[in-house]
Amino acid sequence: MNQPANAASARTVTLIRGDGIGPEIADAVCSIFDAAGVPIVWDEANAGLDVFEATGTPLPESVLQSIATNGVALKGPTTTPIGTGHKSVNVTIRKALDLFANVRPSRSLPSVSTRFEDVDLIIVRENIEDTYGGIEHCQTPDVHQGLKLITRPGSLAVHRYAFEMARREGRKKVTCVHKANIHKLTDGLFLECFRQVAPEYPEIEADDLLIDNTCMQLVSDPTRFDVIVTLNLFGDILSDLCAGLVGGLGVAPGGNIGAGRAVFEAVHGSAPDIAGKGLANPTALLLSGVQMLRYLGLMSHASRIEAGLRRSLIDHVHTRDLGGNATTDEFASAVISNLPAPDASSQADAEAPEPINVGKTGPVVVSDENWECIGADMFVRNDGLPDMPKEVGPLKLSMISNRGTKVYPGPTPDILLVDHHRCRYLSETPITEADVRALIQAVGDKYAWMHIEKLHRDSAGERMFSRAQGE
Ligand code: NAI
Repeated sequence: MNQPANAASARTVTLIRGDGIGPEIADAVCSIFDAAGVPIVWDEANAGLDVFEATGTPLPESVLQSIATNGVALKGPTTTPIGTGHKSVNVTIRKALDLFANVRPSRSLPSVSTRFEDVDLIIVRENIEDTYGGIEHCQTPDVHQGLKLITRPGSLAVHRYAFEMARREGRKKVTCVHKANIHKLTDGLFLECFRQVAPEYPEIEADDLLIDNTCMQLVSDPTRFDVIVTLNLFGDILSDLCAGLVGGLGVAPGGNIGAGRAVFEAVHGSAPDIAGKGLANPTALLLSGVQMLRYLGLMSHASRIEAGLRRSLIDHVHTRDLGGNATTDEFASAVISNLPAPDASSQADAEAPEPINVGKTGPVVVSDENWECIGADMFVRNDGLPDMPKEVGPLKLSMISNRGTKVYPGPTPDILLVDHHRCRYLSETPITEADVRALIQAVGDKYAWMHIEKLHRDSAGERMFSRAQGE
């Protein structure tokens, strides 16, 4: 690949071509960047299925080092085996580099026919936490568990990023999307952090909406949204939904942003159904590249490439996903031939904008001075209701539930019982580690137990655990 004439002053960017359609669309984007004279030198470092098959690891350490050194990467999609196999390369990169905000704009494009014409919203997806920690366990052969972890510092960071970005881009409203009516502790904490941060940005309207209602509103009238900030899993799903609103996965870009480093990649995956056929639409990765150029301060290059892209779409050079018959290469050639003349003002591109840096410095807002352990949930394996000890030291058996439904005390409801019971023990007064050990001993003498969760109350005497559903 050609390097720009002014390579001496060029910015080095890691290029991960990925697998599936990744190499085809990465080639298309690189050829457009070359033709546009973008001052970037690529540092190629590959990852994904092909690398896994060749080396036994999908993400060599050298790839992470390259991104950490260069600070910026453009990444093609990488396949993640479903149900089994190696860990997701994407999730691993996001976590290893602490890329905590995933910024996914959805904007209507010219001549791309969709139900709505004026969609212009940005999803800011929390990118590290939630169920994406991949902390999953087999509790019994029939019962598997995944932990949903939401933290105060992580939530504060992504909310601050969303509001800072909204302020910088002149956006009017930030909507927090959650399911705090059911996930009262986890999504409840995410929403609480949103409500803490929002007043720091009085010029920006702030509201919140349940995820289910959000989906209905988005497909009814997406123009009511401006910036959406949401949890990791909801953000993953919502961004595919929003891709559908503006023409599909072939046109939906994104950027994973951390403190001083960023990886830009399309929303879509490796599309194995069309890989190697020259059918892939490179628009999503190209727009991710445009997002990257703006991040690097190369504004006029970004605008010029975007103009070439828009002109090509207006000329109805469409790949198959948009109803046309242009190949990936033909589309790239069209964008190149539609690049407007370079803007004399491109000299102004020398300085990158100050990155939005919310750091890891969320203020300590909750004291644990009066944080007290007053009980424990023990999870035991048994076919049918277990005959648990009623009292162990200060701890009394208060409740047993099965799949979240209370089955003790009171009549056992006529429901499907699995071999996994949550047995709740509570004490009137704070308990000690010795009390917990005694409980484990007493329960363990009768039943196989899988795990134990301590239950706390906070300084206000509120039982922190008891806001959860069904309690
Ligand atoms: P996908 O996004 O790869 O494909 C879904 C559908 O959209 C397919 O019909 C595909 O042909 C079409 N499509 C996607 N990108 C397109 C493009 N640029 N041009 C034209 N059509 C396009 O989703 P799928 O099939 O669920 O996942 C395939 C693999 O990709 C999985 O292993 C998944 O884990 C991985 N994946 C990787 C991501 C990444 O690297 N950032 C993101 C999402 C999925």
